[in-house]
Amino acid sequence: MIFQNLVKGAVVAAFLASSVGAVDNGLAITPQMGWDNWNSFGCDVSETLLLQTAQLIVDYGLKDLGYHYVILDDCWSVGRNASNNNSIIPDPKKFPNGMAAVADHLHSLGLGFGMYSDAGKYTCGGYAGSLGYETVDAKTFAEWGVDYLKYDNCYNMGQAGNQQISSARYEVMGNALNATGRPILYSLCNWGEDYPWNWGSTIANSWRISGDVYDSWDQPDSRCPCDGPDAWNCGLPGFHCSVTNIINKASFIVSKAQPGAWNDLDMLEVGNGAMTDAEYVAHFSMWAAAKSPLILGNDLRKVPAKDLAILSNAAVIAVNQDPAGSSAARRWMYSTTSSDVYGGNAIQMWSGSLQSTTGGTYSDMVVVLINGANESMVLNATLADIFIDNGASGTAPQVKMSWEVRDLWANRMSESEAQAIIDATSAAPNATNATTVGSGRYNATQTSYAQGLKNNDTLLLGNVTSTVGPSGTVTATVDSHGAAMFRLRALPTGMKRDEL
Ligand SMILES: *[C@@H]1O[C@H](CO)[C@@H](O)[C@H](O)[C@H]1NC(C)=O
Ligand SMILES: *[C@@H]1O[C@H](CO)[C@@H](O)[C@H](O)[C@H]1NC(C)=O
Ligand SMILES: *[C@@H]1O[C@H](CO)[C@@H](O)[C@H](O)[C@H]1NC(C)=O
Ligand SMILES: *[C@@H]1O[C@H](CO)[C@@H](O)[C@H](O)[C@H]1NC(C)=O
Ligand SMILES: *[C@@H]1O[C@H](CO)[C@@H](O)[C@H](O)[C@H]1NC(C)=O
Ligand SMILES: *[C@@H]1O[C@H](CO)[C@@H](O)[C@H](O)[C@H]1NC(C)=O
Ligand SMILES: *[C@@H]1O[C@H](CO)[C@@H](O)[C@H](O)[C@H]1NC(C)=O
Ligand SMILES: *[C@@H]1O[C@H](CO)[C@@H](O)[C@H](O)[C@H]1NC(C)=O
Ligand SMILES: *[C@@H]1O[C@H](CO)[C@@H](O)[C@H](O)[C@H]1NC(C)=O
Ligand SMILES: *[C@@H]1O[C@H](CO)[C@@H](O)[C@H](O)[C@H]1NC(C)=O
Repeated sequence: MIFQNLVKGAVVAAFLASSVGAVDNGLAITPQMGWDNWNSFGCDVSETLLLQTAQLIVDYGLKDLGYHYVILDDCWSVGRNASNNNSIIPDPKKFPNGMAAVADHLHSLGLGFGMYSDAGKYTCGGYAGSLGYETVDAKTFAEWGVDYLKYDNCYNMGQAGNQQISSARYEVMGNALNATGRPILYSLCNWGEDYPWNWGSTIANSWRISGDVYDSWDQPDSRCPCDGPDAWNCGLPGFHCSVTNIINKASFIVSKAQPGAWNDLDMLEVGNGAMTDAEYVAHFSMWAAAKSPLILGNDLRKVPAKDLAILSNAAVIAVNQDPAGSSAARRWMYSTTSSDVYGGNAIQMWSGSLQSTTGGTYSDMVVVLINGANESMVLNATLADIFIDNGASGTAPQVKMSWEVRDLWANRMSESEAQAIIDATSAAPNATNATTVGSGRYNATQTSYAQGLKNNDTLLLGNVTSTVGPSGTVTATVDSHGAAMFRLRALPTGMKRDEL
């Protein structure tokens, strides 16, 4: 009885959180998905790049997996127009048809248009920033048909240093976007300065939690300080942050993620070439489990087949897009060497509740086992640790039950199938041949992830690999720098409900 009351209390709290705590624009009810040019192109932006990439997002079936926003990052403008309310002027060489034309084209493909600006005097690339010009810029973006704003933090004129100052600066743009009347997803990007996870949800749909990611699993870099147990309190966000550095920073603030408002672990590096396949699998798994926005950061014109296969894994995306909107949490982390870099060589176990697909009282659970060691290892997650939030020291009722263990990477598209999709697209550009080749894949345009989960679609649930009995252990052999990811579903043979 006590347990059921607790569950009801949690449900009420979650409802209040999502209806009261999150910004009220109806967007990012699940973490946003899309593509941003920055990680692979930096300032080298143009209409051609955005439209070519948009077409590939369609042809490769990525749109039908949920990747929706095509986000233009920094370096697209040439200043302000004094004879037109100081409105910002797009670079006519990079965008010869103007921004509204880009928006129209993207909308005709069923995609959304993401724009970039900066809550400072200049953008990070030294172009005009929006500080002091929030109203005119928001209005201009809305007129162009923009659906998303990534809002950076360079040259902020010292308007930072505590939560009130930073939140006030970012709130001006939030209010300006709202005042346009156009729903525009607001992606706050102040790199985790002044604890945006405490105030971001009332202003924006997501907030970055760290300095910029780079294409490395665990390389320490002095320019991205703060690792280890105090990383949540990082005075200097820096940049060149490794995947393990960012996972560590996320681990402290997972409870802040909620429908409409997400911790942003930064754009994906999958496909950019400097990590191993196992590392990219672990990177994608963790971004999904921590409910980060999933924003592709690679050059889709030359995506390796194995990376397209990672980015196309609907079973992993379904965890990210789960209707319950609750981030997994780290349950333990242990060093595997004496000369350890915190997080780098460690093994970790994360778990978190997902909406039930068994129709019962008990949530499904996602379990991620991460192996930071320099060798393949057998990792073990006990039910007692997986369900520790439901009762410490193995007292959770879930520990006394049996669970189906489903491998979320078992149905990863084969490299040859991914290659066939890429080949069909290059043979017939802008046709839909490629998506025909991949016709066995999940189509979230047709059937939402929420509905697909209700239907028990195996493309989303993964393959059953084993069952784990009462007080049992989930075990997996995990590659060096890789991850295993499972969905646990309650089996009806557990304890009777009366016993609760
Ligand atoms: C603006 O904010 C109000 C109040 O929070 C909300 O009801 C409305 O949907 C918002 N509109 C847009 C376009 O974001
Ligand atoms: C395909 O679409 C892109 C973007 O709209 C365009 O630039 C390109 O010319 C098209 N290619 C062909 C062969 O139609
Ligand atoms: C500046 O605004 C004026 C008045 O709307 C317009 O005629 C002119 O074309 C604009 N200049 C640029 C470079 O956009
Ligand atoms: C510029 O100001 C004029 C007059 O106040 C207004 O009608 C117009 O909508 C403004 N344009 C923008 C882009 O804000
Ligand atoms: C999904 O699977 C669960 C557990 O096996 C079952 O109870 C439920 O009826 C299934 N739902 C559908 C729509 O098949
Ligand atoms: C990892 O292991 C390989 C051999 O298995 C070895 O060559 C390499 O030096 C090791 N790297 C580290 C960082 O220990
Ligand atoms: C997991 O359990 C197996 C079997 O008991 C054991 O061999 C292995 O060392 C364990 N892994 C770790 C990391 O403790
Ligand atoms: C997973 O199940 C599907 C069918 O449901 C099957 O085609 C596929 O081969 C299985 N994968 C593995 C790794 O067992
Ligand atoms: C693409 O599809 C069209 C019509 O659907 C077909 O005629 C053409 O042969 C296909 N091309 C390839 C390379 O599959
Ligand atoms: C996915 O579903 C949508 C809507 O039904 C459809 O237009 C699209 O062609 C489908 N995509 C694929 C790859 O079949």
